[in-house]
Amino acid sequence: MNSLVRNISIIGSGPSGLYTAYHLIKKANTVKIPFNIKVWEKFPVPFGLSRFGVAPDHPEVKNCELTFESMFKEYKELSNGYCQNLEFIGNTIIGNNNNNNNNNSEPINRFENRIPLNELHDSQDVIVFSYGCNGDKRLNIPNEKSTPGVFTSRQFVNWYNGQFDMSMNEKFMNFDWSRVSRVGIIGNGNVALDLSRVLISNQIDSLWSNTDISNIALKKLREAHIESVQIFGRRDFSQSKFTNKEFRELWELEKFGIFGNIESNEFRTMIQDVNNKTKTNNYDRVMMRRLEMSREYMLPFDQRTKKNYKKFKPPVERNDARKIWEFQYLKSPQSINVCDDDGSLKSVTFTENIVGSNGNVNVQNKPTTVTYDLDLLITSLGYKGEPLEGFKEMGVHFENGHIKNIKGRVCNPDGLPLNGLYTSGWISNGGRGIIANTMQESFQVADQILADLPILPKTSSKETTVSSILHNTTSWKDWEKINQIEMNNGVPYGKPRSKFLTVDSVMKHIE
Ligand SMILES: Cc1cc2nc3c(=O)[nH]c(=O)nc-3n(C[C@H](O)[C@H](O)[C@H](O)COP(=O)(O)OP(=O)(O)OC[C@H]3O[C@@H](n4cnc5c(N)ncnc54)[C@H](O)[C@@H]3O)c2cc1C
Ligand SMILES: NC(=O)c1ccc[n+]([C@@H]2O[C@H](COP(=O)([O-])OP(=O)(O)OC[C@H]3O[C@@H](n4cnc5c(N)ncnc54)[C@H](OP(=O)(O)O)[C@@H]3O)[C@@H](O)[C@H]2O)c1
Repeated sequence: MNSLVRNISIIGSGPSGLYTAYHLIKKANTVKIPFNIKVWEKFPVPFGLSRFGVAPDHPEVKNCELTFESMFKEYKELSNGYCQNLEFIGNTIIGNNNNNNNNNSEPINRFENRIPLNELHDSQDVIVFSYGCNGDKRLNIPNEKSTPGVFTSRQFVNWYNGQFDMSMNEKFMNFDWSRVSRVGIIGNGNVALDLSRVLISNQIDSLWSNTDISNIALKKLREAHIESVQIFGRRDFSQSKFTNKEFRELWELEKFGIFGNIESNEFRTMIQDVNNKTKTNNYDRVMMRRLEMSREYMLPFDQRTKKNYKKFKPPVERNDARKIWEFQYLKSPQSINVCDDDGSLKSVTFTENIVGSNGNVNVQNKPTTVTYDLDLLITSLGYKGEPLEGFKEMGVHFENGHIKNIKGRVCNPDGLPLNGLYTSGWISNGGRGIIANTMQESFQVADQILADLPILPKTSSKETTVSSILHNTTSWKDWEKINQIEMNNGVPYGKPRSKFLTVDSVMKHIE
């Protein structure tokens, strides 16, 4: 029976890799073929963006980690014995993320353990690429990478969440935060809203001090006395990418005297439609809720009609607000302007757009521009997937920031599936979706693997172990220890955990 044991390697221990493992284990009974799973992770700790992406004030989102913890304890029972071994191998990078836009600020060569992809391929029956999106989408305009005070959303989120490559990055540590009062954020997805919330409420102790935000980042952020956050969209209000729950969180900051505003003619027309009860059939339920929410929160507290929006009376009137966040629509960044003397950020110039009926952005016939003075700029355009070194040789087709696949089966350039190669999560779709979507998609990929398992050739020549010599890897037991220490360290401060901020500080606790 042992010769039939299949070896499955999953690259990445974020939600997609671990949900793929979870479903393989839960459904192993359906194919009755024994297998081993190895989950490879470049960092010494698991969970990907659940740990390093999700905002610190959204701890409930991290509940998926509890599922993964019990999976590592109970995989034999959960799989009726078909999963014979489930192993986490941390601090080990597979291949190389061809991160060509990391502007040299992230030390990608620091990985002590690197296994070439072809070596892993030779040793495994199934490989699942679940390594997420490790790059940044870019505007590709001058001064974007070099200007102090201009960051990408991925860099910024990694920094405040204590991701090891960014937690002490000098671009953040050497920046003069005390000069920051006007912030610009380009893009209006949910990450832009996370960033707006963190920045505009940075001084409010009750929101942040009992979260697992990096202490070092929080201290620096608090040096900034931010008065306005401008959120720029290249299209209009109706094409906004954020979701209502996150939008509402921004409005609710009014209880701390932080108010919101929306600059858009389209928005004003839509609000009139709702007020006059005209054309409301044009708007779906989600949009109606969004409009209702905005209209109510933009009214003085006492004039609001729904009690849903009257929970907490703001400490000051809207007109006396000292802090505001504001959406600016129909603006595409054209240039990042820097101060002549020290090269620091001065302003950003935008061209004003119109949106065609197909939702595409067009420049006006007589293009106009508008310039905003800013002290800090974050480009929040989405995370970008990058190929791994070795893809070409294996015939893996990588295009538009994701691995080409059909229902998780990795394709070659002719669109044909490659035996034994699968992909799940953000690297399979180019950086889209919340954890619930990622989970559903990963379950489907696991179902596909299980369906293929009986017909996948089990090559007896396949070695079961990689031949690279590995040092200082971390196991699940090691993670359990680190997890406990981090949680204990958080207790005196009322935090769920106090994260280790460097790989070295983690490795000191590993025997
Ligand atoms: C800022 C932000 C906030 C978010 N907030 C929410 C939220 O509030 N609610 C919600 O539901 N969703 C949220 N999401 C979405 C959610 O994080 C994703 O749906 C999910 O994390 C995608 O999972 P993944 O496993 O595909 O990628 P990831 O989570 O990125 O995991 C990939 C893993 O692979 C590892 N890895 C990368 N390269 C290699 C390699 N070569 N070798 C070995 N390991 C490697 C990485 O270190 C990482 O651990 C947020 C996303 C972001 C960016
Ligand atoms: N709380 C949560 O549930 C939560 C939190 C964070 C993230 N997430 C999820 O994570 C995923 C990624 O989120 P995200 O915010 O990083 O990405 P996103 O939702 O794709 O938003 C990216 C934004 O950047 C804009 N953009 C892209 N390229 C641009 C350019 N060249 N010039 C100007 N604007 C540009 C986009 O505008 P266009 O629309 O015009 O392209 C869009 O507004 C999403 O699925 C999101 O829902 C969820």
